[in-house]
Amino acid sequence: MIVADIIEIAKSAGSVLKEGFGRNFQIEFKTNESNLVTEYDKKSEAVIMEYISKKYPAHTIITEESAGHKGSSEYAWVIDPLDGTTNFAHGFPVFSVSIGVTKGTEVIAGCVYDVMRDDLYCAEKGGGSYRNDKKLNVSSTEILGRSLLVTGFPYDIAGNPYNAAGIFTEFLKHARGIRRLGSAAIDFCFVASGAFDGFWEVHLNPWDICAGRLLVEEAGGRVTDFRGVNSELFPKHILATNGKLHKPMEEVIGRAFRPGETVCPFN
Ligand code: IPD
Ligand code: CA
Ligand code: CA
Repeated sequence: MIVADIIEIAKSAGSVLKEGFGRNFQIEFKTNESNLVTEYDKKSEAVIMEYISKKYPAHTIITEESAGHKGSSEYAWVIDPLDGTTNFAHGFPVFSVSIGVTKGTEVIAGCVYDVMRDDLYCAEKGGGSYRNDKKLNVSSTEILGRSLLVTGFPYDIAGNPYNAAGIFTEFLKHARGIRRLGSAAIDFCFVASGAFDGFWEVHLNPWDICAGRLLVEEAGGRVTDFRGVNSELFPKHILATNGKLHKPMEEVIGRAFRPGETVCPFN
C-alpha cells in the first residue's frame, strides 16, 4: 500500500529534521534574504528521494530543492521535504514534511508529518482523513465572524502583484481571528481537523498543496482557487475551507481587489 510507504518516508525524513533542529547548520538564501534553504531541507529531501527512487523507479518525483526525477509511469510524488524552513531556521518548532502522490490528474494519497508534535496526518482518496488514528472532520462554522482562519505570505510579498497584504487586511475586519503558522501543509491539516475554518494563501507551489488538499477534501472540506473554481490540481492561489465558509471567503477576497472587480483577477 502506497500510504504505508508515504508514512515510513515521512517519518524518516522527520527524524532527520528533528535531529538537526536547534543545532548549528548551514543556511543559504534562495531568491532573497527571506527565502531560505538549510542543510536540513536538503538532507530530508535526499532521504525521501533515495527511498522513492529505489522502490518506485518509474515514478516521477517533483520536489522543492532539486530537479527531482522524470519517470515513465502515471504516478508522481510531490514533496516538500521541509515545509516551514523559516521557522526551522529560527528555532520555532512548527514545521512539517509533506508528501502527496498523484495518479493522472488526481491526488490519491498524502501525508503531512508535523514533526515536533509527532502528529501524522494521512489521507487516501475515498478513505477519509486521519491524525494518527483519529478520523478528522472539518468544522461546521457557518458565520465568518465566528471563524478562526489561517494564512501565509509569499517570500516576494514586497514586489508581487497579488495583494496578499490587502486580502489579509480585509479578512482582519471579518474573521474572529487569523493565524500565521509558517507551514502551509500544517495550515491544511488544521482545516482538516476543524481547528481552523479556512485557509487562504496567494502563490503556493504544488509541494505546499498536494497532500494538504487531499486531507481537507477527505475531511469534508473544499479546496479551490480564489474564484471557487476547482479545475486545477495545484492552483496558484488557494482557498481551503470547511465548505460552508467558502463563498463568504471568496467574497472577501474579491473585495480586496481594485474597485469594481468582484473576483480575483490573478488566477
Ligand atoms: C513556505 C511555508 C509558508 C508559506 C510560504 C511557503 P517553505 O514553505 O509553507 O507557510 O507561507 O508561502 O513557501 O519555504 O517553508 O517550504
Ligand atoms: Ca513549502
Ligand atoms: Ca520547503
